Amino acid sequence: MNRRHFLASASAAMVLPRPSFASALPLTLKAQSVTQQILPEGEGTTAMLGFNGSTPGPELRLKRGAQASIKVENALQEGTAVHWHGIRLENRMDGVPVLTQDLINPGDSKTYSFVPPDAGTYWYHSHYISQEQVARGLMGPLIVEDDMPVDVDHDVTVILSDWILNQDGSLVDEFTDMHSVAHAGYMGNFARAFLSRDEVRQGDRVRLRLINAATNRIFPLMLSGVSGSVVALDGMALSQPRDLSDLVLAPAQRADLIVDITGPVGFDMQTGQGGYRLAELRVSGENSERKPGPLPKLTAPNLPAPGSPAQHLTLTMMGGAMGGHHGGANIWSFNDVSDLPPDPFATIERGETVRITLANDTAFPHGIHLHGHHFYEVAADGSLGDLRDTTLLAARESRDVLCVFDNPGRWLIHCHMLSHAIGGMRTWVEVT
Ligand code: C2O
Ligand code: CU
Repeated sequence: MNRRHFLASASAAMVLPRPSFASALPLTLKAQSVTQQILPEGEGTTAMLGFNGSTPGPELRLKRGAQASIKVENALQEGTAVHWHGIRLENRMDGVPVLTQDLINPGDSKTYSFVPPDAGTYWYHSHYISQEQVARGLMGPLIVEDDMPVDVDHDVTVILSDWILNQDGSLVDEFTDMHSVAHAGYMGNFARAFLSRDEVRQGDRVRLRLINAATNRIFPLMLSGVSGSVVALDGMALSQPRDLSDLVLAPAQRADLIVDITGPVGFDMQTGQGGYRLAELRVSGENSERKPGPLPKLTAPNLPAPGSPAQHLTLTMMGGAMGGHHGGANIWSFNDVSDLPPDPFATIERGETVRITLANDTAFPHGIHLHGHHFYEVAADGSLGDLRDTTLLAARESRDVLCVFDNPGRWLIHCHMLSHAIGGMRTWVEVT
């Protein structure tokens, strides 16, 4: 795979399997080896890991406020655990080995049960040697449906990822390459999006659920053939729809868009050399019934309002190449501590509002993820910004976030550039 192939690659849109789960409870996800057509049709296939025969795994659609049970069966040669990214669930269902559960060993299974409190776009992924298991394909979309269906013609999930592939399609095993861990992380030479549908009509109104499932790549995105807005980030509805112009997704981040189709839809990653086509949605026929009108509104998030902060913590990202000296034992650290310390970085009383200054004192961007909660990004003028579960900090950037820690348990905080997480950028808090 040379660079030209990577940058000039044709569209590789593919239709995700979309089982209907409405009647078949409980759900089962079987982690296993799969063979997937990642490169364009006609080129080599890729031996990967997946769920129920494919990567991405099946789209799980859950009802907000209703108990869900998902049985994870491990048919791999190694252990695994599944994390339900962005869901504010019970701590023991969070899927983090050591911190919240034991590994699911080969041949064993574990049933995860939880009640998803917020409608929106989430995803699930392995949380064991995740820089490798996620890159190999152990991930899939998790949609929590709205109480009242949103008025659109189609609801399309778009999962972005990238991989280092050989010319024949085989995966390059560089998941823990120390050079990439110390820099921007495992970064694919081939990227694409998987769509849950490959065709729409001119004039259709479509909800697009974008999920960045890449292990390390930040996707600056440009869409063509649509007019519309961003209506939700990381599962949470925005109070005001936002322009599509500077859509950037860090690893693990999601964006929901509602758009009207004006022509064939292109999903492009913006690169220094121009656009790189990730996927396309064909247009066939015309929707003459759909009247253009204001975009439907999503239900506003129902989270506790932040009070005045009981604690002000600082989490400084340190290390990496060109990062200078830090006190951690691994390549990266938070506050001079690498990897999961035996004691929590902070102990927080349930219900407390905490202000956290996230300071990036390194030469690379980081996407910091907090488990079990969403938090507000604090804008430069001090006002409350977006509700997120993963926030992107550019090199040397710093940002405050405000979080109401109302979910008891042991919660991970880590960089979602998964190479950085394995390189040490992980810690945890305890909510008592
Ligand atoms: Cu999506 Cu700890 O991760
Ligand atoms: Cu990072």
